[in-house]
Amino acid sequence: SMMAEINRDVVVVGAGAAGLTAANDLRKAGVSVAVLESRDRVGGRLWTDVIGGTMLELGGQWVSPDQDALIDTVAELGLETFSRYREGESVYIGPGGSLTRFTGDIFPVAPETEKVMVDLIDRLDVMVAQMDPDRPWEHPDAGALDRVSFEAWLRQQTDDEEAADNIALFIAGAMLTKPPHAFSALQALLMAASAGSFTNLVDADFILDKRVVGGLQQVPLLLAERLGDDVFLGQPVRSLEWGAHGVTAVSDGVTVHARAAVLAVPPVLYSRISFVPALPRLQHQMHQHLSMGFVIKVHAVYDRPFWREQGLSGTAFSPYEISHEAYDNTNHGDERGTLVGFVSDRHADDLFRLSATERKERILESLSHYYGEEAKSPVVYYESDWGTEEWTRGAYAASFDLGGLHRYGADLRTAVGPIHFACSDLAGAGYQHVDGAIRMGHLVASQIVEQVRS
Ligand code: FDA
Repeated sequence: SMMAEINRDVVVVGAGAAGLTAANDLRKAGVSVAVLESRDRVGGRLWTDVIGGTMLELGGQWVSPDQDALIDTVAELGLETFSRYREGESVYIGPGGSLTRFTGDIFPVAPETEKVMVDLIDRLDVMVAQMDPDRPWEHPDAGALDRVSFEAWLRQQTDDEEAADNIALFIAGAMLTKPPHAFSALQALLMAASAGSFTNLVDADFILDKRVVGGLQQVPLLLAERLGDDVFLGQPVRSLEWGAHGVTAVSDGVTVHARAAVLAVPPVLYSRISFVPALPRLQHQMHQHLSMGFVIKVHAVYDRPFWREQGLSGTAFSPYEISHEAYDNTNHGDERGTLVGFVSDRHADDLFRLSATERKERILESLSHYYGEEAKSPVVYYESDWGTEEWTRGAYAASFDLGGLHRYGADLRTAVGPIHFACSDLAGAGYQHVDGAIRMGHLVASQIVEQVRS
């Protein structure tokens, strides 16, 4: 067999944005690295592919203006950005199936419902302002807020179902991609705090502001290029021996002896690795309380962006549609028009019980409710299904079950001996986003450099 055995200062497990950021920082500090990646490509949840002649971003793609860590990396790599198309009117479909066009952030609902929504957003903004996204468990009401689901919390605030459904949507379907009964009000506040405020989440032009020309996967691709031969593809790490001496990481073809390890994989995959000795009981327990959300990202490409001719921006929302949100996702300089829609949690489960043909019909039917009959006839149709990806197992990222954040959050990022943890799923600012992955990469690299030098 071709088993290579090498020595480095640090072994990085996972060539996503987090692992590659850490590896580059370490290299710059004069610390040698090897990156072991299970897939035959780098980028993890960032993946650009050409399907039916059109470039599609199958994973993460948008950049928002407060994501400094990502913005700095994009600039440093010499990449260019462009704005999401947003001219014209957005559409909202209410509980009875009626469509209304609107501009601005607040959905066009009855005046009483609008008042409830605005009050809830204000109240959530105040609570979020009391939270340090790096220490959500220190919020003055953390214990109580982590015991109640976000859905139950909303029902305690108002009897207006449409208002509650809409506010739930911004965190549940649109971000954590779990039903709002499946995570706590504290976890919801963390999601908002990690993006600066609840108001920011409501503002699609903020959250989904810019894209990278040529696709966001270029960030990990260019970071990996700088590391050259120190990135090993097709090398799932199977075991990690660790102790006072350091670590030995064993993948299918490479064994790396190092002083420290960066585990830069989603936390739901930690248990795929045999730790010798086993991780401590706290980690064994804590990691079981984190799980991936689930969303289908649907790409529909047309010969032209026909909705623009009707004065529509392409931005569409409804908590009552199987595609709860959709946008104009036309590529930079492309004549074709692309729509992207999202189908979250229970809807995604239900649709994956159907045949591919039926699923496509149901999803395009939903898009046609927003954009009209023409939406039913794309020239290219594709569903990103991260649930089938062995090395991801869901989308967008992981969150705690009820009570888990308050119980375990403070220990989540703590290193275990020479093993350091970095992933977007562990971030404060930029949580669940590429920005958070990069922040976590910088953080563990600086911790390791300090240790190596002391
Ligand atoms: P990531 O999961 O990317 O990397 C982990 C790497 O470890 C993977 O390459 C994996 O193959 C590897 N690995 C796993 N186990 C291993 C093992 N045992 N041995 C070796 N390697 C192993 N974010 C955003 O900012 N804007 C957006 O618009 C979106 N939209 C979006 C859409 C969709 C469909 C998805 C799936 C995700 C997003 N996101 C997003 C989220 C964003 O993509 C995500 O948070 C980061 O890319 C995660 O980067 P990490 O490096 O933390 O993990």
